[in-house]
Amino acid sequence: QQGPAFDVNAMTLTRWVLAQQRTAPGATGDLTYLLNSIQTAVKAIQSAVRKAGIAKLHGISGDTNVQGEQVKKLDVLSNDLFINVLQSSFTTCLLVSEENPSVIQVETEKRGKYVVCFDPLDGSSNIDCLVSVGSIFCIYKKTSDGEPSESDALRPGRELVAAGYALYGSATMMVLALGKGKGVNGFMYDPSIGEFILTDPNMRIPEKGNIYSINEGYAAEWDNGLKNYIETKKQPKTGKAYGARYVGSMVADVHRTIKYGGIFMYPATKSAPNGKLRLLYECNPMSFIVTEAGGFATNGKIPILDIQPTSIHERAPCYLGSKKDVEELLQHLTA
Ligand code: AHM
Ligand code: MG
Repeated sequence: QQGPAFDVNAMTLTRWVLAQQRTAPGATGDLTYLLNSIQTAVKAIQSAVRKAGIAKLHGISGDTNVQGEQVKKLDVLSNDLFINVLQSSFTTCLLVSEENPSVIQVETEKRGKYVVCFDPLDGSSNIDCLVSVGSIFCIYKKTSDGEPSESDALRPGRELVAAGYALYGSATMMVLALGKGKGVNGFMYDPSIGEFILTDPNMRIPEKGNIYSINEGYAAEWDNGLKNYIETKKQPKTGKAYGARYVGSMVADVHRTIKYGGIFMYPATKSAPNGKLRLLYECNPMSFIVTEAGGFATNGKIPILDIQPTSIHERAPCYLGSKKDVEELLQHLTA
């Protein structure tokens, strides 16, 4: 006999987060509420990314809506959504967004104990051509006394309470790591019921993969160690060459790396010795997730998660993925 066609007991993201809270001693439910708020922002962003309601917004032409107003750019809209849901969740005190030059202090009456760093819509070069983009976030608990300030966000990634991303790909997926060895879990969005469903429990990155991911256009600016490493992937002495994949959206490239294995790199170059990616809301959250999934993330010298940040928008070279692949790269970088 066949099972029911409709799962009447699906593990939704909301239900899963709630269940985690129930098993955490002393939990107040604040983190649960915070994660649910982020989920709301992600739902709204995915709807906008997928152009739901575009006929109403755009009329039949251009970038102005029926009222003649300019339609909000997707990255601006995503940032406004993140900031609003986080502030009104009553669980945060300080926000760091890629889109805002300084930290955002939550007004006193709405304050809670969490500090959130986020990139509301990453992959800016891919937005207008409809290639996958994503949102990235990570959460610290404020440990200092007094007014929330920048220093509450300038902490190594090791201290994170949670990190996650949303990938707006051929489907929408939210991936979440709550640390403490609780693993990494993936939730696929089901538009028919408007819920994220646990489809990828306990995600583990393969020990070794066969894909390398880097913007090879800048190869002339790489150091020799990196050049050699990539060369060995293309022309191995034994075995098959690695495949090359590079979307140019960190969330998509890292998600593929977690699912299939391999290595993702945004290296230091001659003209950009710290690479391009931002430590607080790109490198750190992704490194936290990859590490929790059994992989490894480094800036070429030390684990990304051990870097002590000194400013909120600082950059770091980023090499992450399957443990064996990252170890092999490190041997070339230090040689
Ligand atoms: P963004 O924050 O302006 O979108 O830039 C970050 C993105 C990452 O998603 C991606 O890994 C990288 O930039 C790609 O950069 P490049 O085009 O230099 O390869
Ligand atoms: Mg970004």
